[in-house]
Amino acid sequence: MRTITLINGDGIGPEISESTLEIIEASGLKINWDIQTAGQKVAEEEGTPLPKRVIDSIKKNKVALKAPVTTPIGKGFRSVNVQLRKELDLYANIRPCKNIKGIETRFNDVDLIVVRENTEDLYAGIERKVDENTAESIKIITRGASERIVDYAFNLAVKQNRKTVWCVTKANICKLSDGLFLESARKIAQNYPDIEFKEILVDNLCMQLVQNPSKFDVLVLPNLYGDIVSDLTAGLIGGLGVAQGANIGKECAVFEPVHGSAPDIAGKGLANPAALIFSAVEMLKYIGETGYADKIDRAIRETIENKDSLTKDLGGTSTTREFTDAIIKRLR
Ligand code: NAI
Repeated sequence: MRTITLINGDGIGPEISESTLEIIEASGLKINWDIQTAGQKVAEEEGTPLPKRVIDSIKKNKVALKAPVTTPIGKGFRSVNVQLRKELDLYANIRPCKNIKGIETRFNDVDLIVVRENTEDLYAGIERKVDENTAESIKIITRGASERIVDYAFNLAVKQNRKTVWCVTKANICKLSDGLFLESARKIAQNYPDIEFKEILVDNLCMQLVQNPSKFDVLVLPNLYGDIVSDLTAGLIGGLGVAQGANIGKECAVFEPVHGSAPDIAGKGLANPAALIFSAVEMLKYIGETGYADKIDRAIRETIENKDSLTKDLGGTSTTREFTDAIIKRLR
């Protein structure tokens, strides 16, 4: 039986993890879950929010499913999510964004993929207080990491038969850092003559995404823009409750939704587990369990299309429990 690390997170994390595990079990697939806790409570008990045992578990199992973990805002420990990605060198954050039948949105022809660089940029966490009234954060962009993520994006475009890779920066202002990312992208693009390469500034991209998202295909971005733009693109297909993601490295992969721990609805049974379930479906494909992945994917899509027991974020009135049960009923 395959062992996979599960970080069940905090906030809505435990609720949506429980739902996802139940659905996988009901599909008939047996997985030995190596459950690892992380975050605030763990920091109080073990002195660090991300103990070495979590990293060791993922290194050993190679694959993890991860629910969101809260990061204190404006103070406290460094994000567990950022640390994890850095420690395991999960350099590519892949966030597909495609309309889901049954979820009515402004546009019905969205089909793009956000490829976010996952290890550097302002997320390097190099900050200091210069004096009482001044703070500075250092934005790190390296040629190696930029070429690697752009190459990943082009490779993905080839594998998925896509036509265009858009490099998104603010190289008109951050001339050196984003300039280096863009220069790296232009170089890598030359290796993929069959894929069209386009450049766009991030502010213009945001405007065009809300006006005409269907013109975009694969987007490759430095870390911060990728983070922000992927929440925007989640909004195009029905919101954070359905937006899946994956962090991929050379050795390991961690599958997790785009959304955070949603403290505003935690513990109320209102969370939509779909984003974590879709992330788990990708994880199952990644480990070669395509049959089970397709079975779960079909069940959740049918449930949503039939507007069967939808959670509040999708316009329904059902709880996490009811939505989970509706998906389980459709597994076949
Ligand atoms: P958030 O994504 O947790 O929530 C934003 C809004 O979307 C909230 O109104 C929330 O209720 C709603 N929402 C999110 N997921 C939902 C779901 N599955 N079902 C229904 N509604 C959902 O973002 P926020 O509030 O900015 O961050 C909360 C915490 O999460 C912060 O500590 C942040 O650092 C952390 N976070 C963790 C991430 C991770 O673990 N990968 C990613 C993003 C944020």
